[in-house]
Amino acid sequence: MSTTGSTFRSVHWTGNSVQIIDQTYLPQKEVTIHLQSVGQVWDAIKKLKVRGAPAIGIAGAYGLYLGIRELPEGVFSTFYKECERVAEYLNSSRPTAVNLSWALNQILDTIYSQKDEPIATLKELALQTAIIIHKEDCRLCKAIGEYGVELIPDNARILTHCNTGSLATGQYGTAFSVILHAHKQKKVKNVWVDETRPLLQGARLTTWELQKEEIPFTLNIDSAAAFLMQQGKVDLVITGADRITKTGDTANKIGTYSLAVLAKAHNIPFYVAAPYSTIDMGLENGRDIEIELRGDDEVTHFGNKRTAPKHVQVYNPAFDITPNRLISAIITEKGVITPEYKEKFERLFG
Ligand code: MRU
Repeated sequence: MSTTGSTFRSVHWTGNSVQIIDQTYLPQKEVTIHLQSVGQVWDAIKKLKVRGAPAIGIAGAYGLYLGIRELPEGVFSTFYKECERVAEYLNSSRPTAVNLSWALNQILDTIYSQKDEPIATLKELALQTAIIIHKEDCRLCKAIGEYGVELIPDNARILTHCNTGSLATGQYGTAFSVILHAHKQKKVKNVWVDETRPLLQGARLTTWELQKEEIPFTLNIDSAAAFLMQQGKVDLVITGADRITKTGDTANKIGTYSLAVLAKAHNIPFYVAAPYSTIDMGLENGRDIEIELRGDDEVTHFGNKRTAPKHVQVYNPAFDITPNRLISAIITEKGVITPEYKEKFERLFG
């Protein structure tokens, strides 16, 4: 899979398997792998070989097809129960990004709505729905960039967190798409890239994507963000999201909430960019979002080297919640949405 040129697609449906760039090897090596079974897709999502909210939704959608394509073509109720079981299994891989359950439910709903069709047709419909979800995400991410660019001033010094680019989505990215579109309009002076402890999605992946696009950037440790803002070196912060409630409370990579608090303290706009598939209209309050807790090793080790004594107690949440009141605007494919979010979300996405 070539990633040269402008934006690329990190997930492909080959006709028989899901082809992904295994992100755990980046930036050292660009390794492409083929996922041929639902178990391999589950494992790839769990281990962050494919990661980023929209990308795991896309991979999960293809994974559901892989998990049902060999099922017996007997009675609908038996087939559908199995489809639900496979979807539940895939959804157990990572809990926070709603894009995964959203994509799986899209497929289940499509299957159910056509339940009088032959099972072979339903399987084909499942695949077609996955392909539509994938293509649609590319289109949504492009639109996010086109709308978001209006918020970016000339000579912008933008701070971002985690990875939100083509690796994390169908194509273009979310926050990354805004940066990319701003760069095309020659508005970007510098992107401050938070390294994003502990898995270093910023240092390993965002820098890799920025380099490809020849966008000027500087890598900084997460805890340098406050000092950068204090020195007047940041004009705005923009991040992606893993789940946004209908009131605008936002789950994103751990460290995002600190950035939002800091941005408020320094009077800097804090923007979130995400497609509608990240908005969970079933949830009101950010408190109700399940936060993934990850393994101790990510904190007690740096690479393969132990950096903390044995038997230390570790707390390692992968995400945090930024309350809506700290978010200046949420950039979606339908435009830039400013507070109060609830009524506007209901009108646009309800
Ligand atoms: O744990 P990760 O790397 O999957 O976390 C990803 C993020 O937090 C991204 O910011 C989010 O998914 C938005 S990406 C378009």
